Amino acid sequence: MKLPGVVLSGIAVASAATVDVAQFVNPFIGTSDGGHVFAGATLPWGSVKAGPDSLSGDNQGGYVSDGTNITGISQLHDDGTGGGASLGNFPFLPYTAAQCANNDLTKCTVDHDRRAIAHDDPTASPGYFSIPLANGVTAEVTATQHVALHRFTYPNDTSQLLFLLEATRDLGNSYQGDGQITVAPNAKTGGTRVTGGGRFIPSFGEGSYEVFYCFDAPSAFLQGKYFKTASGSLAYTDLNATTTFNTQIQNNNPAGVLMGFAPGSAATLNVRMGISWTSSDKACAYAEEEIPDISAFDAIHSAAREKWNEVLGTVEVDATGVSDDTVEMFWSSLYRTYISPTNITGDNPLWTSTEPFYDSFYCIWDSYRVVHPLYAITAPKAQAEVIRALIDIYRNTGWLPDCRMSLDKGFTQGGSNADNLLSDSYVKSITEGIDWDTGYEAMVKDATVEGDFTVEGRGSIPAREALGFVPVGDTNNPPNEGPNTRSASRLLEYAYNDFGIALVAKGLGKADDAAHYFNKSGDWFNIWNANATNTGFSGFIQPRNADGSWYFDPRYDLNNVFRPDHCSPVFGHFDCFLNTGGGEFYEASSWEYSWFVPQDMARLVTTMGGPDTFSSRLDTFFSAGFHDIGDEPGFFPTYLYNYVGQPVKTVDRVDATLTQYYNNSVGGLPGNDDSGAMGAYVVWSHFGFFPVAGQDTYLLNRPYFPKITIRNEVNGAVATIIAQGLSSTNKYIQSATLNGEPYTKNWISHSLFTNGGTLEFVMGSNKDSTWGTGEADLPMSLSTGGFQ
Ligand SMILES: *[C@@H]1O[C@H](CO)[C@@H](O)[C@H](O)[C@H]1NC(C)=O
Ligand SMILES: *[C@@H]1O[C@H](CO)[C@@H](O)[C@H](O)[C@H]1NC(C)=O
Ligand SMILES: *[C@@H]1O[C@H](CO)[C@@H](O)[C@H](O)[C@H]1NC(C)=O
Ligand SMILES: *[C@@H]1O[C@H](CO)[C@@H](O)[C@H](O)[C@H]1NC(C)=O
Ligand SMILES: *[C@@H]1O[C@H](CO)[C@@H](O)[C@H](O)[C@H]1NC(C)=O
Ligand SMILES: *[C@@H]1O[C@H](CO)[C@@H](O)[C@H](O)[C@H]1NC(C)=O
Ligand SMILES: *[C@@H]1O[C@H](CO)[C@@H](O)[C@H](O)[C@H]1NC(C)=O
Repeated sequence: MKLPGVVLSGIAVASAATVDVAQFVNPFIGTSDGGHVFAGATLPWGSVKAGPDSLSGDNQGGYVSDGTNITGISQLHDDGTGGGASLGNFPFLPYTAAQCANNDLTKCTVDHDRRAIAHDDPTASPGYFSIPLANGVTAEVTATQHVALHRFTYPNDTSQLLFLLEATRDLGNSYQGDGQITVAPNAKTGGTRVTGGGRFIPSFGEGSYEVFYCFDAPSAFLQGKYFKTASGSLAYTDLNATTTFNTQIQNNNPAGVLMGFAPGSAATLNVRMGISWTSSDKACAYAEEEIPDISAFDAIHSAAREKWNEVLGTVEVDATGVSDDTVEMFWSSLYRTYISPTNITGDNPLWTSTEPFYDSFYCIWDSYRVVHPLYAITAPKAQAEVIRALIDIYRNTGWLPDCRMSLDKGFTQGGSNADNLLSDSYVKSITEGIDWDTGYEAMVKDATVEGDFTVEGRGSIPAREALGFVPVGDTNNPPNEGPNTRSASRLLEYAYNDFGIALVAKGLGKADDAAHYFNKSGDWFNIWNANATNTGFSGFIQPRNADGSWYFDPRYDLNNVFRPDHCSPVFGHFDCFLNTGGGEFYEASSWEYSWFVPQDMARLVTTMGGPDTFSSRLDTFFSAGFHDIGDEPGFFPTYLYNYVGQPVKTVDRVDATLTQYYNNSVGGLPGNDDSGAMGAYVVWSHFGFFPVAGQDTYLLNRPYFPKITIRNEVNGAVATIIAQGLSSTNKYIQSATLNGEPYTKNWISHSLFTNGGTLEFVMGSNKDSTWGTGEADLPMSLSTGGFQ
């Protein structure tokens, strides 16, 4: 896709009017090579995410920029996920007369794979997607919160607008039945209404879910067929004006309706598709309320774009002297951070509550690090709702989730990282409507009560209590079998989760609890093997057996030589996931996890042998290829030079990471976007600071814009970041002031965003600048008196 040529310099800063930043968003970034980005039409946190589905092995996000054919345009998606393909329910497909033997509906190819049709280049922008199909029909879609509005423009000579709605299909082909299809005239519009729903299976979780739809076409159909597969072949039944079919389909056989409509003056068919997680009646109510006029495609599209501009508009940047590529990357990345989770407040079928309800936390292991801390400064209202929703999930299911999608419990990836998602908002004074006492209760339950840690809380609580670490093989399954291992990475995460609990305990005045959990956060050290060596460095996080001996995996730690590079890009990433046979580290190596002590980096520096060794060890980590930016544990290490007073090296490292691994092409992401996590890393890096998620610390690199403002939508406070003299060579901070006072620390705290203020840097090319290098300039650590 090509963006229109726009003049980017001199975009108004701090103006009250909404700037059309949607023009800079390229939704196709990350739609191939495993990015799994959803490029279709949605609102910020929209329930409906409508767009085409590609017949591609890589179609987790629906449309894939790999040239594969389109099987349909469906109503729901997830964004950037790993796991199986999510959602993709209730696809539509337009046909022309020629495809259906001169309008014989029984001759249209309905089989999902065989019907897939070629296409030309699509175009997309926030709230809009358009794709020209090889049959001459152009499919466009826009959306409101719960409703997709589709516009199909057929070739001029079309005698009937032929159309498929498959009611029993999603991307994972997971239909379980429990559905029906009711066709009836819509008395209000004089058109055709089809309602129904069905049961499907989540892509990375347990159980099943039901979802419902309400379809409206603007006129009565000229002809209609219900189709259903029976014994391997399709059977057709004529549609009467009012008909109900039961779709207790077995074995993933398709069922749905085919209809032919009369072309109006233009051969255009607008169809409205309301979606609800509660009932088809509710789907119809949403449809009528949000899109009363089915013909108003352009107005709904404009409103969607306006909504995006409003949500994106808490941030403004001055792009003077900044390349078009940087502007496009920044806004596209920020845009993607607001696609998920979905706000389905008021449409929760699971329990009755007046609290907000959000779904598609896919997964918190990914999003707590960068996405939710971003909301804390750019969208604190949404973040407060997310916190309330998580606490309400705890109230009603007994647990905070690590992962949830499609109303179901998802698989826990590591620790109980909702603890740090909550602590992050707590220390950043996100309070609106939040019952923090119950939030704290939920966190303590994670730390003290063992549930089914496949989907909630933590595992190995008694073993850790007894030993101070999670031993290898502490599971009901045989050791090293399947998802129940990850002993080393889980311990590191549990230790940091405990630190989050301590911060909240401290804030709530629970001094004993705070002392207890601060202490538990030191458990990482219990699996630090000072004698493990690799590539010239000694001391690594290594899994441990229950008897205290170090664990060597017989598959790679040959001759009892521990391989800290296993699960890194240079030595095997193949079995480090939530898979049977997955090892003791999850989605990153010991080389990478050995940096993960955000609560006490000062102690880690000492443990590794002091600042010089720490710094050269970081150098080797990057140069030897052990760093993996494609998974979320790879974010934090790029900022760690700040902990040894070398912010200049952080600037170079973040620059190199962005240059090497990110670009604006369809394959421009280093991994699954994971609900905007890869994008959020880009946003933070461009701001010039990075959140140490779960605590009140932002590590400074340098801004990529001469001026950035971030408006706090709750209290109106404006934080302004100015980089005087910024250029491609003047990218190192020489000096700084905060609200006019000299500022030498290489980190900032959240007060800039709650109180407002101005952080101003003088930039230069001098890499020997002493700014941020002193002992007193280092970020907080527990062992040097921080936090407590
Ligand atoms: C893609 O669709 C076109 C028709 O539009 C068809 O001719 C072609 O065989 C399809 N390709 C694949 C790989 O299915
Ligand atoms: C369709 O009709 C329009 C307006 O009459 C005309 O401009 C266009 O060329 C026609 N397209 C085709 C493919 O016939
Ligand atoms: C359609 O209506 C006719 C006439 O009332 C009836 O015989 C037939 O069963 C109906 N078909 C369906 C599918 O309901
Ligand atoms: C979430 O949805 C509810 C109900 O529609 C709405 O009141 C609220 O403003 C939404 N939140 C955000 C952040 O848009
Ligand atoms: C935790 O408390 C124990 C017992 O008092 C003590 O030995 C240990 O050093 C403490 N750990 C940390 C990290 O403070
Ligand atoms: C490292 O090796 C030395 C010498 O064998 C031993 O005394 C020490 O306990 C070992 N340290 C660890 C953490 O295993
Ligand atoms: C864009 O980034 C991807 C992912 O890092 C990389 O594979 C690709 O080579 C890059 N393309 C360009 C043109 O730099």
